[in-house]
Amino acid sequence: MKKGKKLYEGKAKIIYATSDKDLVIQYFKDDATAYNNLKKSSIEGKGVLNNRISEHILTNLSQIGIKNHLVKRLNMREQVIKFVEIIPIEFVVRNVATGSLTKRLGIEDGTVLKEPLIEYCLKDDKLGDPLIAEEHILTFDWASKKELEKVKKMILRINDFMIGMFRGVGIKLIDFKLEFGRLKSSGKNEIILADEISPDTCRLWDSITDKKLDKDRFRKDLGDLIPAYTEVAKRLGILHEQANVSAVNVTKLSSVKRKRK
Ligand code: TMP
Repeated sequence: MKKGKKLYEGKAKIIYATSDKDLVIQYFKDDATAYNNLKKSSIEGKGVLNNRISEHILTNLSQIGIKNHLVKRLNMREQVIKFVEIIPIEFVVRNVATGSLTKRLGIEDGTVLKEPLIEYCLKDDKLGDPLIAEEHILTFDWASKKELEKVKKMILRINDFMIGMFRGVGIKLIDFKLEFGRLKSSGKNEIILADEISPDTCRLWDSITDKKLDKDRFRKDLGDLIPAYTEVAKRLGILHEQANVSAVNVTKLSSVKRKRK
């Protein structure tokens, strides 16, 4: 598949055109940002791990009937995905209160929620991705009522599946962010899951120790982000080498795989 021109560059990924108008290539960068771009860094090997972890989760979701944009992983940093029009909403799903929810509403950190809580944020960096209500989505036609109902059903199934998948490997799924898009090629504007699901977009705590195995290691300056992401990949059965691989080893791994191709 021929990689064409850059269509879009986000904080952690780049989208390239391909010779097929319905498909694009998603490239995972090593860049890490937090607090609406106020904190920035590059963490060698992060993109490689997110590519693999997201591929694993989206492939599993596909198998339980959750339609998503993943076609196939191309190499250590790239995947072929279906071209969608992204709905400009970040759908945040919470099982345990932490992060912005605790700050905003004064809820005690670590409170287990009696039901999954879905929150909506407008995808707009200039405005700082503000929290919005369902009524805003409908009033401003960011999604229709039918689309929203479908997305909510998908979200709850995704959450159920992911809680179980992570529980099976000793990890608590605290919260995560999802994005959805309209599939233009279907001619029906069908809604599918898009973007990525990785430790960049989830909060993952070790079931026994509550150790953070996600991007909070960067947000809160906890260090050892690559070993934590590697631990997640290893527990999911994606990487088979030792848990504590360094960034250098992840980079080596990507070059070994490239040579083998
Ligand atoms: P929050 O507590 O900062 O609102 O984040 C909730 C979850 O959503 C957490 O798992 C991180 C994820 N998230 C993103 O992936 N991207 C974002 O831009 C935001 C605000 C949250």
